[in-house]
Amino acid sequence: MAFVEKFLSESGANPAPRVSLRPAVARDADLLWRWRGEWTVRRHQPLHELSVAQLRADVASQRMSDLYRGRGEKFQWIVSADGEAAGWITLVVSNWEHGLAEVGYALATEHQGCGVMTRGLGQLLEDLFHHTEIERLEARCALDNLASRRVLEKNGFRYEGLLRGYFKLRGTRVDNLLFAHLRRDYLARG
Ligand SMILES: CC(C)(COP(=O)(O)OP(=O)(O)OC[C@H]1O[C@@H](n2cnc3c(N)ncnc32)[C@H](O)[C@@H]1OP(=O)(O)O)[C@@H](O)C(=O)NCCC(=O)NCCS
Repeated sequence: MAFVEKFLSESGANPAPRVSLRPAVARDADLLWRWRGEWTVRRHQPLHELSVAQLRADVASQRMSDLYRGRGEKFQWIVSADGEAAGWITLVVSNWEHGLAEVGYALATEHQGCGVMTRGLGQLLEDLFHHTEIERLEARCALDNLASRRVLEKNGFRYEGLLRGYFKLRGTRVDNLLFAHLRRDYLARG
């Protein structure tokens, strides 16, 4: 492995970063606020203007143990690349009875395009479909957000439809694509 990394680094290609996930905690609020202000993060999605205090309160109220007991609505993780906080994933559970949830994600500009979110989301799917009662995980992305679309496709999400004029982005209504992944399909992949 060390040889491969040395070869890649000497040949000018960057080795794939090590990706890990951890639950977000209150002290991540500053980072979340900074990332949410970056232009590339906002390019394809309308993000609410939230203060650091609001973000801190939001994260502080999450109890990750609830997720594994079939309770709670919103959960956030920090995605790290080579040990450095790189972005976040949010999970919103809309209905525990039917196991319905939606996922959203973003990376700081400097960490985009390195394969980080493909692997970060993959790790989350593994956890959710093996250790929680979530049966159907949805994700949406703006029609022209090709990177996000690929992240979903590479993780086995299936395209389910076009959501016309789904949200307003800088004054223009934007079509979205709806993707979903089912626990039964995930487990069948082996
Ligand atoms: C969308 C986002 C999460 C993707 O994560 P990422 O780690 O950068 O994506 P990856 O590096 O794993 O790339 C995934 C795929 O998209 C492709 N891709 C990356 N940027 C692209 C671009 N600008 N146009 C087209 N394809 C692109 C990659 O080539 C890769 O596909 P491949 O493996 O077939 O070559 C990240 O770019 C991001 O945070 N963007 C800003 C916030 C955002 O849009 N969040 C999603 C809202 S729905």
